[in-house]
Amino acid sequence: MCGIVGYIGQQNATPIIIDGLRRLEYRGYDSAGIATLVHGGKIAIRRAEGKLINLENVLQTAPANGNRGIGHTRWATHGRPSETNAHPHQAGGIVVVHNGIIENYLQLKGMLQGCGHIFLSETDTEVIAHLIEERYNESGAFEVAVRAAFTELRGAFSVAILCEQEPDLLIAAKVGSPLVVGLGNGEYFVASDIPAILSHTRQMIFLEDGEMVVFSEAGMQMSRLDGTPVERAAKSITWSPAMAEKGGYRHFMLKEIYEQPRSIADTLAGRIVDDQSDAFLDGLRLEDADVQSLERLYIVACGTSWHAALVGKFLIEKLARIPVEVDIASEFRYRDPIVTPQTLTVLISQSGETADTLAALREAKGKGGRTLALCNVVEASIAREADGALYTHAGPEIGVASTKAFTTQLGALTLLAVRLGRARGTLSPAEASALLLDLVQLPRLIEETLELNSEIEKVAQAFMNARDFLYLGRGNQYPIALEGALKLKEISYIHAEGYPAGEMKHGPIALIDEQLPVVVIAPKNATFEKVVSNLEEVRARGGKLIIVTTPDGVAELADKAEALLLVPASSDELMPVLTSIPLQLLAYYVAVLKGTDVDQPRNLAKSVTVE
Ligand code: AGP
Repeated sequence: MCGIVGYIGQQNATPIIIDGLRRLEYRGYDSAGIATLVHGGKIAIRRAEGKLINLENVLQTAPANGNRGIGHTRWATHGRPSETNAHPHQAGGIVVVHNGIIENYLQLKGMLQGCGHIFLSETDTEVIAHLIEERYNESGAFEVAVRAAFTELRGAFSVAILCEQEPDLLIAAKVGSPLVVGLGNGEYFVASDIPAILSHTRQMIFLEDGEMVVFSEAGMQMSRLDGTPVERAAKSITWSPAMAEKGGYRHFMLKEIYEQPRSIADTLAGRIVDDQSDAFLDGLRLEDADVQSLERLYIVACGTSWHAALVGKFLIEKLARIPVEVDIASEFRYRDPIVTPQTLTVLISQSGETADTLAALREAKGKGGRTLALCNVVEASIAREADGALYTHAGPEIGVASTKAFTTQLGALTLLAVRLGRARGTLSPAEASALLLDLVQLPRLIEETLELNSEIEKVAQAFMNARDFLYLGRGNQYPIALEGALKLKEISYIHAEGYPAGEMKHGPIALIDEQLPVVVIAPKNATFEKVVSNLEEVRARGGKLIIVTTPDGVAELADKAEALLLVPASSDELMPVLTSIPLQLLAYYVAVLKGTDVDQPRNLAKSVTVE
């Protein structure tokens, strides 16, 4: 939540920071601000409520230039979205932008008010500025003051700080929330995420928790907060800036939906052995003997990644015959889970920074279990802290509603299930090969599925005014029902619920009337007849059926639905990838027709780094 950008060098910092903030708006977009400092000059602060464009308008009438600066795009945690609560926050000559939460801010605020500090905002961030100012008044040294203040702050946070009295310096620090440093030619960048600075440099250093960087034009010094020096080589980022652009699509979400054939191909690339009898997952760091000794798996995640986890349970229990428990990360971390050295906890996270999932990882590790991260963002905290990492290689996902991250998670989980099944001997080479051959066909089948685009736009037109939607699925399609409902509510703000189709008669059936669209996911599989019975129950009560099925299901369903959406058939294990695509498109078109902000829906943020 919240995005930070900082710059120090010879160029005008303002356009660099604004461009970076635009690429970080997915992290929050309820207000934005910038502070710049000209050598020997004063700090200039500009802030605006709402989207970044409002800040740009402010800068048009009141420019703030300088060759160093810090900027921020906000997702409110403490204090409503307003100009006063927007960052940067200033106390004396100290100016701060902040991502994260200061847990002991009330206590610190009381202490600082007692020393005469006057607070203007409702934020927790403002205490950072006042605390550093207080320590600066004592020590007269910016760096010393920042280090002293950090010993008093509790929580997870990243900051970038300027000091009017020491204009040569910019200081950044990370405790929990992500921060990356970009190395330019005689200039430095700092940001919450790679895309913010990728058009300026590909040489990046990822800060670890408890680290601080002091930048000046002459160089940068990395250290632990206690002052211990840190040496770390830069990594070269291979993403191109174009990968984080819209590329002619109206929205990032649509672009990302259409990228799925390629992103799934990238997930699979180099990970299937030559004779297709096994998956090769070098980041797993589990020998066959380790896999054989496993007694239980947890898969832990939030939101869409949790839906992927639910599909993962079907895959792993079927192919590797290990009991799998799926947990929501915010529940797992507080329920004292039973973890032994024979437990593998898989943490799924697109961003790799989700606070609850990171805490769940630490809980599992702390109890002595093995951990595996299934992440998209390379070098993210969860990937770095887990014992093993399996990257999805979906590429940057900017739309807040997750699409390609989800289907690549399903692809990666299939590879994982195959590898575990082969290591445990529960999956024969021939069975593995049959599934993997179907897996490599998925990009082509996704392309075919995307041809439903205009048909789905018409379905969206027909149902865009519905007040509620119900999504039904059975077995491995039940998580897809949940995901379809989540996509719709996230971006169209229509209330939607996902239910196991067989559970409908135990309650939700009371909701069904002529006004209710019911999306049923019914590929022809072992439970197809059961699902047909469930959708007859909907029909009998006047519900409007939108059915997703495979061509071999048409005969039974043709006369039952308002809309019949046909996806190509594949192995049952892989069908969730294909059936999720029409649901992504349906949510997308309903949102477009309703005129909502598809890529940055209200109240949400791409990366939820607060508890
Ligand atoms: C997906 O559309 C959502 N925006 C959200 O549920 C997301 O999946 C969740 O916050 C988890 O994020 P992560 O995968 O980055 O951990």
